[in-house]
Amino acid sequence: MPELIRFGVSLPKELLEGFDRLISRKNYTNRSKAIGDLIRQELIKKEWLEGKEIAGAVTLIYDHHKRELLNKITDIQHDFQKIIISTQHIHLDHNNCLEIIAVKGSPQEAQNLSDALRSAKGVKHATLSMSSTCKNIQ
Ligand code: NI
Repeated sequence: MPELIRFGVSLPKELLEGFDRLISRKNYTNRSKAIGDLIRQELIKKEWLEGKEIAGAVTLIYDHHKRELLNKITDIQHDFQKIIISTQHIHLDHNNCLEIIAVKGSPQEAQNLSDALRSAKGVKHATLSMSSTCKNIQ
């Protein structure tokens, strides 16, 4: 458990009221956890920009009937085998598949993988969720 430090923050009343409404909708029970998460989010963003080792996930939805697309998606994943740690395939419905690809490694490579998958014909939606291995973030 890291050492906790208490500090005072001065904010405009309206800003704090807006923040309290926001975190209440997000089910936070106190401001400390919400502010800590915001700071952590910014540190993770910095980690992405600076090219250290990151963790994340690419989520894609694609048309299951496009047979060539399945090969293309597999080929792309083999090209990025160095950063892919796990892949989960879900048959969403008769037409669509959902694939969740967990990645760990260079943020640029993760971005390149996401871009390559997104641009494949038949991929309807692809998102890159940027997270962190949290080795340097408490
Ligand atoms: Ni499927």
